[in-house]
Amino acid sequence: IMKFKSIYRFATICFASTILVACNSSSTSNTLQKIEDKGKIVVALNPEFPPFEYKTIVDGKDTIVGADIELAKAIGEELGVEVEFSSMSFSNVLASVQSGKSDIAISGISATEERAKIYDFSEAYYQSVNKMIIKKSDATRLTSIEDFVGTSIGTQKGTIQESVGKEEFTGATIISLDKNGDLIQQLKAGQLDGVIFEEPIAKAYVGVNSDLQIVDMDIESSISDSYAVAMPKGSTELKEKIDKVITELVDSGKMDQFVEEAYQQSISNN
Ligand code: ARG
Repeated sequence: IMKFKSIYRFATICFASTILVACNSSSTSNTLQKIEDKGKIVVALNPEFPPFEYKTIVDGKDTIVGADIELAKAIGEELGVEVEFSSMSFSNVLASVQSGKSDIAISGISATEERAKIYDFSEAYYQSVNKMIIKKSDATRLTSIEDFVGTSIGTQKGTIQESVGKEEFTGATIISLDKNGDLIQQLKAGQLDGVIFEEPIAKAYVGVNSDLQIVDMDIESSISDSYAVAMPKGSTELKEKIDKVITELVDSGKMDQFVEEAYQQSISNN
């Protein structure tokens, strides 16, 4: 009887773990099913990135707005689920998708080859280029890449601007901070000589800081810079749905319109 019992127990454990493994693998491979079952999609973002995602007061309430928010809403509509935004520092945005805390990330994320090893990316929804912003009072001192030798340049932690800075401004010290607001403050205070942002973000910050300006120079980079939605690896069905939404928004010109409207709104609130 004892023997039978332990065999039985062993078999039960095997059976149970088989189910566990099966359930587990199916839930990670079908990210779309998981979202549909919850009736909700959790979107990771760092809302300090105008005009794509930033905080503003709407009807007296602190609200996250921007072009990425409009994109997320369109995705929610296509999937027929509620959209929940989860705010965090940019250096945690992608990790939050990897750990499963968030379903996807929409945060002006550049779909680099490096990141594509770990995440699935949607079709691109925006093409960006990098720009340097400086104080207006430095306009004659800082006009070319060579002028930045010996200076301090700020970038947001975990972004491609960090790598672009190190790659292209070899004679400068690159200082990475979590918050874009802190980069702007340090630039205004003279602790930083320049900050690298992608063009729409540079424009949005310069639009509300009359003491800052964009340097009229191109920053070449080996890192291609197109924004895409990040998903866990193997999100085939989910990617299909998200790509459909993006293709529609890009082809109709709606995506660019979202960016322009959010830019206008971000500078008018000041
Ligand atoms: N495009 C850059 C990157 O992916 C910067 C993105 C920063 N996004 C943000 N919401 N702060 O590295």
